[in-house]
Amino acid sequence: MTRDSSDNPARPPAGVALCAVADLADPGSKGFRFRADSKMFAGFVVRLGEEIRGYVDSCPHAGWPLAAWDDRYLTREGDLILCGGHAALFRPLDGVCIAGPCADERLTPWPLTVVNGQIVTA
Ligand code: FES
Repeated sequence: MTRDSSDNPARPPAGVALCAVADLADPGSKGFRFRADSKMFAGFVVRLGEEIRGYVDSCPHAGWPLAAWDDRYLTREGDLILCGGHAALFRPLDGVCIAGPCADERLTPWPLTVVNGQIVTA
């Protein structure tokens, strides 16, 4: 299963509205799944204040999805992204791993933009 390839047919094209910024807590996160036949694309969005970032939901360590529970991508403090697999920690604004088995690797960005308060694929 390919989840992080830009040619994955399940990956939504640019212009798909995901949710409103206001739907996310601050700080907060939310996961999204898209299917096309047997292919799946999984991505997630994190919000810190006015900053919004999107990442492919695949840990650079072993390729597992990051969230152990739906939409729970952030640590309890909300300041870092946590992989539930083996507890890697990532900076939310650039996706760089700062602790864990894939230190210095980074999450794959999922380009997003905000249009009229809606988070939209870019
Ligand atoms: S799969 Fe994320 S830390 Fe191992």
